[in-house]
Amino acid sequence: MERYRIRGGNRLHGEVEISGAKNAAVAIIPAALMVNGKCRIENLPRISDTEALLLILESLGAKVERIDRSTVEIDTTNATWMGADYDRMRRIRASYYFVGSMLGRFGVARTTMPGGCNFGVRPIDQHVKGMNALGAEVDISDFITAHVPGGRLRGASVYLDKVSVGATMNIMIAAVLAEGRTVIENAAREPHIVDLANFLNSMGADVRGAGTDTIKVNGVEQLHGGVYTIIPDQIEAGTYMAATAAIGGEVLIKNVIPKHLDCITAKLREMGVTVEEYGESVLVRSAGRLRRANVKTQPYPGFPTDMQPQIGVALAVAEGTSVITEGVWDHRYKYINELRKMGAAVTVDGRVAVVEGVETLRGASVNACDLRAGAAMVIAGLCARGVTLVEDIQFIERGYENFVGKLRLLGADIRIIDEPDGTERDTAAAG
Ligand code: UD1
Repeated sequence: MERYRIRGGNRLHGEVEISGAKNAAVAIIPAALMVNGKCRIENLPRISDTEALLLILESLGAKVERIDRSTVEIDTTNATWMGADYDRMRRIRASYYFVGSMLGRFGVARTTMPGGCNFGVRPIDQHVKGMNALGAEVDISDFITAHVPGGRLRGASVYLDKVSVGATMNIMIAAVLAEGRTVIENAAREPHIVDLANFLNSMGADVRGAGTDTIKVNGVEQLHGGVYTIIPDQIEAGTYMAATAAIGGEVLIKNVIPKHLDCITAKLREMGVTVEEYGESVLVRSAGRLRRANVKTQPYPGFPTDMQPQIGVALAVAEGTSVITEGVWDHRYKYINELRKMGAAVTVDGRVAVVEGVETLRGASVNACDLRAGAAMVIAGLCARGVTLVEDIQFIERGYENFVGKLRLLGADIRIIDEPDGTERDTAAAG
């Protein structure tokens, strides 16, 4: 079993290159199923979730050529909607985007119910509502099976009862090849939604308004091949910002879109961190004890829920009492129990966590409860006195490209150890 072994105390110094956005990539790969011809995707993050989705595409009959570390070429000419690698599908949240792309291309879809991080109940009623509005009949059991009686989806108006990233993207994907115009109202506005729209448009789709709460999709007959470069990952960048803030040091975070980081930047500045913005990078400098702050997570442009655990660790070592309010998920505080093992003083009541900052954390053996919680444990370990072991690192590797290699380049003492035999994985090829 591999785990991370961290010796805390080293400040972070140097430069780190951010990879492509995970949550854009995990929608773009399934959407590529609808492209007629070869589609080349650049700046694809090399993480286990994107690898799994590419394997699922291959199981559907697509040809996937890995050109280099961050570039793939996909040809779905011979793909079908049947015979997917359902075991793999079941483990990935984003596999639900295949419902949209299969319905769009084939008028039929079959996927498993999606897996992914457990933040409590993760309903897909808004996805289903959208597919129904476009004319699909959807049946949900262990599998999601759907078909369009007339063969082709028909554009429609869909008002989302809840601002949902996944439903917005799935309906957008399905609508691209539908007949006529689809309007998605109360749409989510995250940067990866704009990125998915840009990808689809670069392949011949007609999607307008992505990034606002009303998205209009004029259906087209088919998509053509092309080349697309995915945007940098907002949350990976935010994670290194929070890490530098909590641990201390000076790090230049490269290949970012500073605008996407605005609310993280503002919160860190409130906590006494220096953040300088440049064209495609941000410099984060942190010295001395952080100041307390209140954080409320909300859909974009609010503070991202996917940054809540990482900022939670920074607040755990800040001076004074901070209040975190989780505005998106019902259960996103499982990591607090792990953080308490390291000496953090946090109480949780429903969606609110009250954090009494402590001067230092101490090393302990902790679990990565999910992807971002796992990243938070790593930050905590790097802040702590002594040695921290982080278990269940497969969650972290779902979404962070070469996390350990990148942190080591910044001076962190972190290794991947395979126990019980004690061998160390080579992370020298840092991306
Ligand atoms: C995506 C991200 C996840 C992030 C979340 C919010 C991916 C693969 N994952 O998840 O990391 O935390 O956005 O930024 O991109 N909801 C419903 N009905 C639905 C769909 C959602 O009630 O049909 C609710 C959810 O329970 C949740 C809220 O809407 O309370 C937001 O969920 P959503 O934005 O859909 O999250 P995901 O797309 O699953």
